[in-house]
Amino acid sequence: MVEPVEPVESGTDAEPLVLVTGGTGTLGRAVVRGLSARGLAVRLLSRRPRPAGDRGPCRWATGDLTTGEGVDAAVSGAGVIVHCATTLGRGDVAATRRLADAAHRAGSRPHLVYISIVGVDRVPLPYYRAKLAAERVVAESGLPWTVLRATQFHDLIARVTDAQRLSPVALALAGVRFQPVDAEEVAERLADLAVGEPAGRVPDMGGPQVRDHAELTRATLRARGRRRPVLPLWLPGAAFRGYRAGGHLAPDHAVGRITYEEYLAGAVR
Ligand SMILES: NC(=O)c1ccc[n+]([C@@H]2O[C@H](COP(=O)([O-])OP(=O)(O)OC[C@H]3O[C@@H](n4cnc5c(N)ncnc54)[C@H](OP(=O)(O)O)[C@@H]3O)[C@@H](O)[C@H]2O)c1
Repeated sequence: MVEPVEPVESGTDAEPLVLVTGGTGTLGRAVVRGLSARGLAVRLLSRRPRPAGDRGPCRWATGDLTTGEGVDAAVSGAGVIVHCATTLGRGDVAATRRLADAAHRAGSRPHLVYISIVGVDRVPLPYYRAKLAAERVVAESGLPWTVLRATQFHDLIARVTDAQRLSPVALALAGVRFQPVDAEEVAERLADLAVGEPAGRVPDMGGPQVRDHAELTRATLRARGRRRPVLPLWLPGAAFRGYRAGGHLAPDHAVGRITYEEYLAGAVR
């Protein structure tokens, strides 16, 4: 049993309405911006204290979904929780349960909105199994809920290539296609869902194009002005078979508009 502690909180005096976990992450930052732009009072949860000099419009609660520290106080008063935090592993299941339990203790029955990944039930990656189990925690929480699954964000695809910048070659997953979507567009959809009625599992959200990983890798190299050969990387195992079979794609839900090249060019930011 974790003792609730007061969060270190700062920001405006507005009544907090929406809690965004992971509000410092790629997606969460955009969700916070989108909700604030709609005039909603927002509080984000982070393990870190608010950086000195941050004058953002949202409130800030310091807490940790792994230890439970600060979570009760972060949840208090929230009518909606947009759960974007991830530990990138098995820990997401316990973290999500901890969040839902805190929401029950708060007594206000907040609407719990969760972001998941397309294909968590088709690609047997340990992280995806954890996301699927976390989806179930949300659906069985007894709270009003909404779950959106999205394909890979543009920045994740770019980071895979950027991480190899010191290598004389760039590796791309052989036989694997991606359908990258812009995190800003996913955040817009999440913000809409957060202000709407609880909807259960909503239609998946994919980017506008399904592209070979090698092609996306070449686009990243071009945008960064790096010249090197792109070599195919063949990985064994069921998870990569699942990727090669396209289990993580949502071609029937290609609703994102921003292409990977537009993201790389930063033209639509
Ligand atoms: N990236 C993708 O391609 C993609 C695609 C579809 C769905 N998603 C889902 O979208 C969500 C956000 O992904 P992202 O790429 O934006 O993540 P990210 O940039 O890696 O951010 C992760 C966030 O989780 C928070 N966090 C980590 N451990 C925590 C803990 N123990 N307690 C509280 N907060 C914790 C971090 O906050 P602090 O470090 O400030 O504590 C950070 O804000 C995830 O659920 C992910 O599965 C991602």
